[in-house]
Amino acid sequence: MALYQATVSAPVNIACIKYWGKRDTKLILPTNSSLSVTLDQDHLRSTTTSRADPSFDKDRLWLNGKEESIEAGGRLATCISELKRLRAVVEAQNPTAPKLSTYSVHIASRNNFPTAAGLASSASGFAALVASLAALYELPANPSQLSVIARQGSGSACRSLFGGFVAWEMGSAPDGSDSLAVEVAPREHWPDIHALICVVSDDKKGTSSTSGMQRTVETSPLLQHRIAQVVPARMDSIKDAILRRDFPTFARITMQDSNQFHAVALDTEPPIFYLNDVSRAIIAIITEYNRAAGAIKAAYTYDAGPNAVIYAPKENIKEIVELLLRYFPQAQPFPDPFALHVDNQGSIPDGFNEKVAKPFPVASVKGFIHTRVGDGPRKLSAEEALLGSNGFPTF
Ligand code: DP6
Repeated sequence: MALYQATVSAPVNIACIKYWGKRDTKLILPTNSSLSVTLDQDHLRSTTTSRADPSFDKDRLWLNGKEESIEAGGRLATCISELKRLRAVVEAQNPTAPKLSTYSVHIASRNNFPTAAGLASSASGFAALVASLAALYELPANPSQLSVIARQGSGSACRSLFGGFVAWEMGSAPDGSDSLAVEVAPREHWPDIHALICVVSDDKKGTSSTSGMQRTVETSPLLQHRIAQVVPARMDSIKDAILRRDFPTFARITMQDSNQFHAVALDTEPPIFYLNDVSRAIIAIITEYNRAAGAIKAAYTYDAGPNAVIYAPKENIKEIVELLLRYFPQAQPFPDPFALHVDNQGSIPDGFNEKVAKPFPVASVKGFIHTRVGDGPRKLSAEEALLGSNGFPTF
């Protein structure tokens, strides 16, 4: 019996120009274009194995070992049926191709980062799901075409089909066919961009992106200004900055856009707050770090939660980590994947005004993840499959 199976990993991406708002909630069409940096799968990834088999009686999916229901008409079902539809086209053109489009699939997916870390896993998760089914079905589709399907799983997932620096062009077609991800530059263009994720403790359950952004669309007048006047110019400027490897411009736009995203959240009725005191202290520290240096050496950005992501050229990361360790003491030594030999006591750069923030208790920042710009989805070998010979998860 032939085994029809594929395993793929896909990366996390963190936006510099934020997606916030849908003009079509079913097709997931955004109210503005967005742009992100893909992070390195060596550190953060979702891995997914998909198998098609005539003995399977229905489509099933396991996430981190736990079965998730695939609701009819829901986001998972939409992605799976779109990919089966493309497979059926392949089969119609090649009469000898096995009829995988008629078989049910088993899908097992796993993140190598804890869900409790508060990192959005829907982007890497849907990108891995779409890329693994596309590999299983041997689809002749390019990453932009696959991004149209991943977008219908979770908007930000479309950007995880590429490595490097990625734009999601909002498009204008009512059917969403031109709302897709494109590569602005591969990681090799600017490999020096590193990212430091500060995992901030958060006890309360926040507003989800999906419901929060819809409330913003319905109630925020500031969002309309952002859509019409701000984002189009910022998209042009940041693409240009990336192509010129102009870090200060890239960083300034990234911080401005994070600030405006949180401003439109606050402008929502009732208002939405994603940042907490720790998040705001990190903004003050990075702002003072840049001021004291007389140059923009780091950028902060925040998604729909309190975690900070700091983008900086690699050469600045050691100094930034040591600065943050002075304000956010850790119970564990800094995990140092790039062997920067960080001083865990921390240190303050020359001319830095320490009074911009107060020192926080241990574990106010639960941990740091140091990573960098990375590549797009990877096909993995059969040894890395997450489904056993019986077609069920191995973990
Ligand atoms: C703040 O992609 O999670 O991270 O399309 O409803 O699944 P849905 O939303 P999602 O929203 C991400 C919002 C953001 C900004 C961004 O990634 O661009």
